[in-house]
Amino acid sequence: MRIKLALIVGARPNFMKAAPLMHELAKFPDKFEPYLIHTGQHYDHNLSQLFFEQLKMPKPDIYLGVGSKSHAEQTGEIMVGLERTFLDIRPDWVIVFGDVNSTMAGAIVAKKIHMNVAHVEAGLRSFDIDMPEEVNRIVTDRISDFLFVSESSGLKHLKDEGVPEDKIYFAGNIMIDSLVSHLELARQSDILKRLSIRTNEFVAMTMHRPANVDDANSLALLLERISDIGRDIPIVFPCHPRTKKQIEQMNDTVTKNIQMTEPLGYLDFLKLQSEAKLVLTDSGGIQEETTYLGVQCVTMRKNTERPVTVDVGTNRIAGINPDNIYAMVKSVLDGNIKKGEIPKLWDGKTAERIVAKLGEL
Ligand code: UD1
Repeated sequence: MRIKLALIVGARPNFMKAAPLMHELAKFPDKFEPYLIHTGQHYDHNLSQLFFEQLKMPKPDIYLGVGSKSHAEQTGEIMVGLERTFLDIRPDWVIVFGDVNSTMAGAIVAKKIHMNVAHVEAGLRSFDIDMPEEVNRIVTDRISDFLFVSESSGLKHLKDEGVPEDKIYFAGNIMIDSLVSHLELARQSDILKRLSIRTNEFVAMTMHRPANVDDANSLALLLERISDIGRDIPIVFPCHPRTKKQIEQMNDTVTKNIQMTEPLGYLDFLKLQSEAKLVLTDSGGIQEETTYLGVQCVTMRKNTERPVTVDVGTNRIAGINPDNIYAMVKSVLDGNIKKGEIPKLWDGKTAERIVAKLGEL
């Protein structure tokens, strides 16, 4: 009997985590029967299909097409669709990734119909319950049957929360598997030429967290201060649709020294990060990718659920005050460099370890 797996993806950061697992599972067709289920939380070509193509992921077996809604509506609709799907497929294990709404929805539905859930990227905690992702992380971990951890802080949090040790496995960072296997190809991207920028002479920026972008006034102040940095060095800003909607309501002057682009594909963005002098972000995954690449990262958040990127890697937490962010970026650009190392088990072999473990569960 093959082990039936349902892998749940929905939003952009899920795709680079599911892809290595799909590729590894495909090596054992006699042992595993994987189903890829896409909730449709992200649906724009640049946020979804392009990633499937570049990561050479098979087309989803099931696409729920839920789309953008309020948290409750989106999560609820994903749950309804997944329940039907799980009852139909009857997987032995449901596998969820990261911390998006699709992750939590998948875990809740599976448990309520007594199916096993494994969470990949478990144990991360920002201790900031105002972040929707923190709610998703806590709920998902609390009800999962097996927890694959990406960094050592995850081990500590799960133990502190009383999770039995035999449910936890330090597998490493699966998103880094995607990075390792695509870096060579990404280096061939002509994105620098297309944007007329040069290696090590620009800042790459991303920003989409509700805490930074949902309030128009504070977003405008933050962009103006970042724009000041843009007087000295080009800033490239591939802009998430959530942020773009807000900026479209504003006066052009707030982004006057910032080069805005559409969201980039995986390969172009990897190239952009790897050649940047500094990356300015509020993303979770980018804090990890810059640490792997040894690129300086300034994070526009009050906290991080990925402390290894600060303790071991090249990341710094600047908070969300525009003046503090400005000062920290300036200091790094002026040569205050963090050396950084690659964290333990971020080696491109996490999917291998997870698949081996899944075979034993
Ligand atoms: C979601 C995740 C977040 C992750 C981010 C990566 C949750 C709670 N949040 O946030 O953790 O870092 O994805 O991108 O799951 N939109 C489009 N096209 C799309 C998708 C979204 O235009 O394909 C717009 C919609 O107007 C929508 C807004 O972006 O209202 C936000 O999308 P949503 O999926 O709710 O959250 P993200 O901010 O993308």
